[in-house]
Amino acid sequence: MSSAYPITEHVYDVIVVGAGGAGLRATLGMSAAGLKTACISKVYPTRSHTVAAQGGIGAALGNMGEDDWRWHMYDTVKGADWLGDQDAIEYMCREAAPAVIELEHMGVPFSRTPEGKIYQRPFGGHTVQYGKDPAHRAASAADRTGHAILHTLYQQCLKHDAEFFVEYFVLDLLMDGETCRGVIGWCLDDGSIHRFRAQIVVMATGGYGRTYFSCTSAHICTGDGNAMVLRAGLPLQDMEFIQFHPTGIYGAGCLITEAVRGEGGYLTNSEGERFMERYAPHAKDLASRDVVSRAMTIEMREGRGCGPKKDFIYLHLEHLDSAVIHLRLPGIAETSRIFAGVDVTREPIPVLPTAHYNMGGIPTNVRAEVLSPSPNDPDRTATGLMAIGEAACVSVHGANRLGTNSLLDIVVFGRAAAQRAQEIIKPGAAHKPLPPSADDKALARLDHVRHAKGTLKTGEIRGSMQRVMQDHCAVFRTAELLGEGVRKIEQVAESLRDIVVADRSMIWNSDLVEALELENLMAQAVVALHGARARTESRGAHAREDFPKRDDRNWMKHTLAWMNGGGKVELGYRPVHNFTLSNDVQPFPPQERVY
Ligand code: FUM
Repeated sequence: MSSAYPITEHVYDVIVVGAGGAGLRATLGMSAAGLKTACISKVYPTRSHTVAAQGGIGAALGNMGEDDWRWHMYDTVKGADWLGDQDAIEYMCREAAPAVIELEHMGVPFSRTPEGKIYQRPFGGHTVQYGKDPAHRAASAADRTGHAILHTLYQQCLKHDAEFFVEYFVLDLLMDGETCRGVIGWCLDDGSIHRFRAQIVVMATGGYGRTYFSCTSAHICTGDGNAMVLRAGLPLQDMEFIQFHPTGIYGAGCLITEAVRGEGGYLTNSEGERFMERYAPHAKDLASRDVVSRAMTIEMREGRGCGPKKDFIYLHLEHLDSAVIHLRLPGIAETSRIFAGVDVTREPIPVLPTAHYNMGGIPTNVRAEVLSPSPNDPDRTATGLMAIGEAACVSVHGANRLGTNSLLDIVVFGRAAAQRAQEIIKPGAAHKPLPPSADDKALARLDHVRHAKGTLKTGEIRGSMQRVMQDHCAVFRTAELLGEGVRKIEQVAESLRDIVVADRSMIWNSDLVEALELENLMAQAVVALHGARARTESRGAHAREDFPKRDDRNWMKHTLAWMNGGGKVELGYRPVHNFTLSNDVQPFPPQERVY
């Protein structure tokens, strides 16, 4: 097979796959530490999905009122509905303030308070004094925080001479048993195939939002790294936990940042009622996202949705001073005008809960090392493989992520990966020989899909997959819905055998890229539905109408999902880390979640 596809070999200490905020922060740290590092990305780095993050990055800087990283930790544990690993959450919240100050020093153009400090706004689920009052914790650059961070990190990478392979599509990991020794990729520009040898491969490939029809994720969010990990025989974790952001624009799905509610915006139903006061009397519109999304869905179901079909909710900011909108929310004013035809200074925005973020992904420890749990050792690590950002499940977000914690996660764990790499590898160390035919499986798959002569176009199969996820794995779930969803998604996955790819060329063949991305998405849709069907409780974003309560006795555990070569899913579980790293904070015992 290799002879049909001549291979160019590259040798590095570290390969980072993905150039979003996590990938760039890791690339920067590794390069600055003298490790020969290359970052491979299927898009130009500043087009990565981090660019779309709007509202802010969470850190207890205390710039606009008292704050403490322990309060941030408590909010994150509670937001995660006690499925988060508390050692990892402690690490993230403790490192948050230094990480944001580091970004400031790198040049991120944060918004400012009148006295020149980084501006911080309230965000859902973030409080001071362990739930007492809303915290001003979201450090922001207007409503384009991700954009500002991504561009700055890319500039810093260039300053430190990091190497980039841009518009390369990584096909698979090169595995030697449970040890990762590199990746094999396809250069979209000239059609050539490349083998990248590395002592450590870091997966920073983002989430799998595009398994859904309506999502805030970019079209590139196909979870390629997650699928590679499944194909390598390693498990994914907590894939059933999929966050719906309360305010996606009705019809278009584009994100309208929670910062709107942080700045004083609010939701109403068809009766003009501020209904969140009933569901979350204390936090109201700033309850955590799972709570707000469920409340909106109930309002629509019970006939109090807006519009002729009663299928959206109104988000108001027309009462805000237009100077605030101009200064703090210019991006969403523009997005609302373009995608909803709404002038936000005069009328409300039609919104509804929209798939937004994947809490699950590649299981890792707090040092970003990928786990390969065994029955005797649930924290056993695979060798040569790390994962960070939305691709990873550390798990700092547990069953439900708080807004602003994803930008934080990417910089904190991107940095942690670089620190760990410095500890465990020697720059320029010799590479072990690869097993014979190490590339063959990946190239055979490429060749098979490239020459597929079935009858179904990629778009048709993708549409079927997205409808199953939208209908069977959304905000509310039941055994019947999920059982039917598993049956349907397996049928749709089977239909991949009948795919047709019309373009057989190797140069910028977007038909082939999309088919490969669809294979990646499909594996994740299948494991997500299996995990959701098995979990007979409600926790965070996983709301089972037939099991409405959280069941800590039986279900305070992470789901693991393996997929064998035939596409069959095997589930297992590992314990949640209910312990901390240090003595300055004790783990927070489970409580009822009241907002
Ligand atoms: O609403 C938002 O700005 C989204 C932020 C996030 O997902 O963290």
